[in-house]
Amino acid sequence: MKVLIVGGGGREHAIAVKCSQSKRVSKIYAAPGNAGIGEIAECVDISVMDATSLVKFAKDNEIDLTIIAPDDPLVAGVADAFKEAGLRAFGPLKNAAIIEGSKAFSKDLMKKYNIPSAAYETFDNADAAIAYLETAKMPIVLKADGLALGKGVLICNTLEEAKEGVKTLMLDKQFGSAGDRIVIEEFMTGREVSVLCYCDGTHIKPMASAQDHKRAKDGDQGLNTGGMGTFSPSPFYTEEVDKFCKENIYQATMDAMKAEGRDFVGILFCGLMLTEDGPKVLEYNARFGDPEAQVVLPRMKNDIIDVLEACIDGKLDEIELEFEDKAAVCVILASDGYPEHYDKGFVISGLENFKDKEDYYVFHAGTKLTDEGIVTNGGRVLGVTAKGATLVEARANAYEATKWIDFANKYMRNDIGKAIDEQ
Ligand code: AMP
Ligand code: GLY
Repeated sequence: MKVLIVGGGGREHAIAVKCSQSKRVSKIYAAPGNAGIGEIAECVDISVMDATSLVKFAKDNEIDLTIIAPDDPLVAGVADAFKEAGLRAFGPLKNAAIIEGSKAFSKDLMKKYNIPSAAYETFDNADAAIAYLETAKMPIVLKADGLALGKGVLICNTLEEAKEGVKTLMLDKQFGSAGDRIVIEEFMTGREVSVLCYCDGTHIKPMASAQDHKRAKDGDQGLNTGGMGTFSPSPFYTEEVDKFCKENIYQATMDAMKAEGRDFVGILFCGLMLTEDGPKVLEYNARFGDPEAQVVLPRMKNDIIDVLEACIDGKLDEIELEFEDKAAVCVILASDGYPEHYDKGFVISGLENFKDKEDYYVFHAGTKLTDEGIVTNGGRVLGVTAKGATLVEARANAYEATKWIDFANKYMRNDIGKAIDEQ
């Protein structure tokens, strides 16, 4: 079959590699893809937001399955355009992707259906938000309602910081209309775990757990980023936690969405915090996480096409998800300065070291093929993933493999997966 992957980051490269391993796939296209994806797929220069051109391309090229990976097109309704054209696409429709597109929607849903999460209030008006903050307990968390590249969450330690945060989000509109409405949420503490679940509208099956490192610098210092590295599984995600989450969070969310007439078909990414009072939802995403996909998918034994089709056909109950016993660690190689100012266009050397090496992967995020070779073309450049018998071994392997790659302003965190030493 012919597959089209919509997107062009490390996550999409990890999806493309899984598709390339499927016996059922004869040809892969990616829109727009990147230099790494281009080695296993034909990249076409269509924007992820251009539903009309994507649908036309899928029709003209007789694509059997389109995988819509990023949040923006899902929230904007690109999956709806495929459905209207009678084409098969993996990813939630707009009325279900709202679970990621509006934090106020997801908080109201959790409240209505008793899904554990932090206490909150929603505000459309900055004065009312500030009046509420005057009486609230610090620290406190402010969240822009809409999509903000994962950067619309402010953790405020003092009332002054919180008032400044309201100004940034609602008055200065740092994230545009995403901040027209904000959620003010109770601050929680605990271990964070990401669990990405396949959903067919009725059934939900979680993949192996993972943990992201969102801050730019070692020791969880510095600015929030799209993610600087991940590991899977999380040692903190015990069987007991899994059992609780399956009943009270995953299936409960699926049932809640169905009850609201918003059947969720796609990936429901549950960002969890393991608090003293049990697991609580920090956020939902309506897609594979990046870089979570770069550790979870390499561990998945199933043919990805079988699983994605089972979701679309409402037959996920017939699938047994299987993950390798091995652990995986992904270290992001970024351009120094990310997530603020950085230079790009530097030649990347050493990519060939990953060829034919079992259990080692280099996923491209911000790269470009030029006459000089493959060059850096973004903040997050590559994801280096390695497996190992244990998390400690996988981490040692991943850091060893980071040495195989070089470019002028290469930057990485040195403590991805470090918490696992505490075990
Ligand atoms: P989100 O995009 O909602 O996952 O938020 C980004 C990050 O902010 C999360 O990964 C957490 O580290 C942190 N965060 C979000 N909500 C809370 C909360 N209620 N309490 C503490 N930290 C939070
Ligand atoms: N790694 C977090 C995300 O994909 O949103």
